[in-house]
Amino acid sequence: MSATGSQKRLTPTQIAAMKGGKPIVCLTAYTTPMARLLDEHCDLLLVGDSLGMVLYGMETTIGVTLDMMIAHGKAVMRGVANACVVVDMPFGSYQESKETAFRNAVRIMQETGCDAVKLEGGEEMAETIAFLTKRGIPVLGHIGLMPQLVHTAGGYRSVGHSEHETSKIRRDAHAIGGSGAFAVVVEGTVEPLAREITASIHIPTIGIGASSACDGQILVSDDILGLFNDFKPRFVKRYDELGKRVADAAASYAEEVRARKFPAAEHTFKRRS
Ligand code: KIV
Repeated sequence: MSATGSQKRLTPTQIAAMKGGKPIVCLTAYTTPMARLLDEHCDLLLVGDSLGMVLYGMETTIGVTLDMMIAHGKAVMRGVANACVVVDMPFGSYQESKETAFRNAVRIMQETGCDAVKLEGGEEMAETIAFLTKRGIPVLGHIGLMPQLVHTAGGYRSVGHSEHETSKIRRDAHAIGGSGAFAVVVEGTVEPLAREITASIHIPTIGIGASSACDGQILVSDDILGLFNDFKPRFVKRYDELGKRVADAAASYAEEVRARKFPAAEHTFKRRS
């Protein structure tokens, strides 16, 4: 899909206008080659801080820095012509104050050229999101299971099972819906709540483990491709097993090198006479 005008990439405003229409297709991307492969199939590509686990072998997203997000944001921007590109604000780059959030979001926008930033948090972040959006920074919200809160939440687990959690997520959805965010990621929650939120806020909900009731879906690309095998959340569907295919290819290469079958004549330079 491509937009009209000088910018070919979909804008956050156009993503917002997709509310209630065709489902919004989103995936993560962290590198130029992957962004090139995914771009034409997606409305939105997220440079997620999940890259800490997926690319760097970290146990959580807590160790991801602003510089890492900017480096990967730049790489993704080199590979995208169609999709709206959103870069995650990492842990510690926006929680302290709305002014710090603004300065760090400006760095991300200026240094990567991306279309928007994403930050985690409900009611407690609504004021920060309003501050950013009123000053020209489009924001994608993120509520429900918030991976950056792993240490205070006591681990990664789906939320919205008790009345207490349900009313908190409901309040978060309404706060982010009214904050100026152009859309909101809803992660790891039960279907009736995702359906209720989607019907009651005016911005699109992008679900991850939050049922088909949402306005769009997002998953980690390496999860759907079978490239990340440390763990597989229940909500992930594998569309390929590239991890196994990579290991098989490496085993074939190793076998041929050891048997002196590779390189063959066609891979070898001959002296020009
Ligand atoms: O970091 C991430 O990849 C995310 C998701 C919503 C997939 O936040």
